[in-house]
Amino acid sequence: MGPAEDPAQVQTSAIAGQFERVSARAALASTWALDPRLGCGRGFALGWLVTVDAAYGHGQADVLVSRMGRADYLPRISWCAIARGRRRTVPDDDALSPDVFDEVFAWISEAPQTNELFDRMLGPFPPGVEPFSLVPRQGLDRVLTELRLAPDDHLVDLCCGRGGIGLWFASVSGARLTGVDFSPGAIAQTSRRADGFMPRSRASFVVADAADTSLPAKTADAVVCIDALQLVPDKNGLLREAARILWPDGRIAITTWERCRGEPADLPPSYSIADTAALAEAAGLRVLVREECDDWLEQERTFYQHVIAEDGDEAEPALRLLAEEGRSLLPHSASARRLLLVASV
Ligand SMILES: C[S@@+](CC[C@H](N)C(=O)[O-])C[C@H]1O[C@@H](n2cnc3c(N)ncnc32)[C@H](O)[C@@H]1O
Repeated sequence: MGPAEDPAQVQTSAIAGQFERVSARAALASTWALDPRLGCGRGFALGWLVTVDAAYGHGQADVLVSRMGRADYLPRISWCAIARGRRRTVPDDDALSPDVFDEVFAWISEAPQTNELFDRMLGPFPPGVEPFSLVPRQGLDRVLTELRLAPDDHLVDLCCGRGGIGLWFASVSGARLTGVDFSPGAIAQTSRRADGFMPRSRASFVVADAADTSLPAKTADAVVCIDALQLVPDKNGLLREAARILWPDGRIAITTWERCRGEPADLPPSYSIADTAALAEAAGLRVLVREECDDWLEQERTFYQHVIAEDGDEAEPALRLLAEEGRSLLPHSASARRLLLVASV
């Protein structure tokens, strides 16, 4: 899977990321089947999917049908093409699926009230950055310093979301950027937003699982991963992947949360990590900085309190989601600590 330039390619990459093998013959067949200019319609396509269902199992065809209902012409071709491949294991927890993030990022891209709150409570951020994470401005400035980026360095933003943070870091340092996220919707938005930050030729974006980016080994001078490690089921896989793509002296900066020592393991998933440094070392990284950032946690609490205060029936879906998150996390926030980890290979 290579860098994706437009939404159709992005979608193709995303779908390819979920399968181990892709059949080109199937791609041609389904192009023909779905091409409205050839007078072929959806009925034929669904018929084709029934065949897939019989050959590959009901669950997989369900996925295909639901995707087809939402996607437009080109992505539908992609789905059908990939349908002939053998499905790879993907997280089956719906709460963590790329679909869910696609929906959230569609909301957040049209959420002036929510983005204004992020900026007021955690920023101000440079125009257009619009993070979907809870590291305050001074924390992101610190992360940028720790990455030690030089002009023409290659920065990989792992789990980049809508990409603003990586785009900001690359634009101020003169680095090249690769953004990676498993949400095709996030990557499509990142790709569109790149022009506002840097020459398009210096940025590329890949839809992939963070534990399997397909990026070549030893090609990143720096990797940044903001507020995502706690969400990823295969944490060791993500950290090993970072170690694989980094140059020997390259640095990775990670922000996340840990549960405090002695706290039970059944806290909300955001606080599921017990020891990020141990995870990093186990994945072959050498920890350079491990810092607990109490001021970030304090700002985060205030942010959630404001979000909850502004929640209501008329609020934006993005704000409603964050308010719900705040209600579930605030009661446990004394059990968590905020973490900045910097490591090298
Ligand atoms: C809280 S958001 C942070 C986004 C971005 N780093 C930022 O600060 O705005 C977490 C991101 O992790 C991505 N993500 C979660 N699990 C992933 C995985 N297994 N592989 C790649 N991306 C993943 C989500 O799609 C989402 O964009």
